[in-house]
Amino acid sequence: MISKKMPNLYFRDLKVEVPIIQGGMGVGISMSKLASAVANAGGVGVISAAEIGFVKDNFAKNPKEANKIVLTEEIKKAKQLAPNGVIGVNIMVAMTEFIDLIKTSIEAKADILFCGAGLPLTVPIDEIKESGIKIGVIVSSAKAATLIFKYWDRHYGVIPDGVVVEGPKAGGHLGFKYEQIENPNYSLEKIFPPVVKAVKIYEEQYNKKIPVIAAGGIYTGEDIYKFINEFGASGVQMATRFVTTHECDADIKFKEAYINCKKEDITIIKSPVGLPGRAIKNEFLEDVEEGKKQPFKCIWQCLKGCKYTKAPYCITQALISAQKGIFKSGFAFAGSNAYRVDKIVSVQELMDELIEGYEQAAE
Ligand SMILES: Cc1cc2nc3c(=O)[nH]c(=O)nc-3n(C[C@H](O)[C@H](O)[C@H](O)COP(=O)(O)O)c2cc1C
Repeated sequence: MISKKMPNLYFRDLKVEVPIIQGGMGVGISMSKLASAVANAGGVGVISAAEIGFVKDNFAKNPKEANKIVLTEEIKKAKQLAPNGVIGVNIMVAMTEFIDLIKTSIEAKADILFCGAGLPLTVPIDEIKESGIKIGVIVSSAKAATLIFKYWDRHYGVIPDGVVVEGPKAGGHLGFKYEQIENPNYSLEKIFPPVVKAVKIYEEQYNKKIPVIAAGGIYTGEDIYKFINEFGASGVQMATRFVTTHECDADIKFKEAYINCKKEDITIIKSPVGLPGRAIKNEFLEDVEEGKKQPFKCIWQCLKGCKYTKAPYCITQALISAQKGIFKSGFAFAGSNAYRVDKIVSVQELMDELIEGYEQAAE
């Protein structure tokens, strides 16, 4: 018999009451305020490590140092605000400081790390093993999942503790080619089962349960029900819906951009990092498209693949501006369902709505 209640989610011995992970959102959209609220509501609250040091005055002078200090502060603050909750950190593999930020998160005692935007092959495995921190990897194909698991198995003798499968409806940078984004063969429903199958081989080899989590375009409790009960997901990762909460760390104008946008405003951009990204169209992005923006001076190469000598704008600066509500020099990343949100609610209200929707779908 299928349970009417949402199941708990486990990363090894780490228990999550409500199987909802709030996806990490950079720059500065998910910090300690949002993450602790989600953790207190029983889910996994995730701080995005991406250029988090921007809140410090010395960021332009010493971004690396500022990132380390602020990430430490934010993890500690979140743990203090949600002493019984689960706090994660999202660290993009594409970040120049990927390894350092893992070490910082371990030192600050985060419970779990989510590594995406690239294949997390080289990691500080000794520190990971010693600390017992849990590692979730974010992939967009079974091929990527297999590559990571094979590499970890061969080189480290361990495997990751969870897998997030992110489909093409997600917000921010996407792990797909432009032509794949609208192609139904690459929908979350299509890419999810092969990942479950690929991971199963390693689950059996290691005699360890690996939760596979669905992400990208999940909006209602009914959607959560579908992925858990029809696709065998152990949980979901959601980001877009957490933007329009009181606790989300972005400026109110960022949240209003979500509330005011229409379906046709949500667009795919070519990010300076060379990846497609989903965002809300605005004048800034139109100017970029029309070639009105010029290459800029980079304070430091924060993302490995960034072609800053050719890029018409700095993605980090544009996202920092948007976080502060300054849209003349920035734009908001958003998932494909951002146009559906019409009000700002508390994280608890959102979680209650999702749980209720799940239980109704079960009936
Ligand atoms: C504003 C915004 C910023 C994001 N930033 C990041 C990020 O820094 N790193 C990352 O791995 N994913 C990022 N994402 C992706 C989310 O973590 C999440 O997996 C995805 O958006 C889920 O789809 P949904 O928004 O439809 O729920 C971002 C998404 C949004 C909407």
